[in-house]
Amino acid sequence: MTDMLKSKKRKGSGNMGITIEFYIEDCLKGLDRIKPNTVDMVFADPPYNLDKKYYSVNDNRSDYFEWIEKWMKKCYRILRPGGAAYFMNAPKNFGRQEAVIKSVGFEISSYIIWMRRNPAPAKNTFPNIHSDIHYCIKPGGKRYFDDSESISYELRRRDGIVGKNHRPYDVWIDIPKLVPGFMAQPEVILKPGKKKAMVLPNQLPEKLVWRCVRASTKEGDLVVDPFLGVGTTMRVCGKHNRNFIGFEINEEYRQYLEEQKISLLKSIEEKKLTQSKLQLSSVAK
Ligand SMILES: C[S@@+](CC[C@H](N)C(=O)[O-])C[C@H]1O[C@@H](n2cnc3c(N)ncnc32)[C@H](O)[C@@H]1O
Repeated sequence: MTDMLKSKKRKGSGNMGITIEFYIEDCLKGLDRIKPNTVDMVFADPPYNLDKKYYSVNDNRSDYFEWIEKWMKKCYRILRPGGAAYFMNAPKNFGRQEAVIKSVGFEISSYIIWMRRNPAPAKNTFPNIHSDIHYCIKPGGKRYFDDSESISYELRRRDGIVGKNHRPYDVWIDIPKLVPGFMAQPEVILKPGKKKAMVLPNQLPEKLVWRCVRASTKEGDLVVDPFLGVGTTMRVCGKHNRNFIGFEINEEYRQYLEEQKISLLKSIEEKKLTQSKLQLSSVAK
């Protein structure tokens, strides 16, 4: 790993000195190489143990919560005191995940419900339409929380939200799940030559990840994602001047991640160039 992980002081975005790194490896190994207390935020969207066939990994583990505990402890070690962790999961795992989070030492700050808007198939029960996020803090330090995002009056009115508070509440109903096909959003990553097959059907919307990154980090901060998938957190960080380190075990995603990294670094370079041109022109006036 580069010097970024070793040095305590990272470059801010004033000079756009942003570093983006990803590693195709098991996060249980990779997280150990990051120095303790150096990371500002962790975003983790692990497999939910729902026996999904599209993972190259075992998504039907009998030791699921022991496994969660292992990587959560590693996340706790690397986070600075006061740093934030967002742990996603399916509702059926939320209760036991909460117990693990508390046993590792985190404080739970919010229980966020993401209403995906696509009900899962179900028989003789209520179809599931949400995934959940534990927003947690490592105690012992100053928390950063930017509450400047606001939900528009039109959206609040559409959703029947009463009261004057315009901040995002803990139920997120304004972010639809990504879908392939004729309704596919521009950010959806499709399999080559296919219109109806996503590379990773659980690819998260950037808006969801950005809401977390924006709330819990400043430009120049360091974000870690142990389960990178097809790179949503990496893209969000690159676009918004956060340093980033991610791990992904599936070799098949390497090419997508590599392409995104190249294009992110290119646009960071372009921004840098525009900034120095602007500085020059203001000096020349
Ligand atoms: C739910 S997906 C994450 C999707 C991601 N948030 C996105 O938007 O692209 C979980 C990912 O974790 C990866 N994964 C599973 N076990 C892993 C491990 N031990 N280390 C690193 N990655 C792992 C899977 O291959 C899968 O891509």
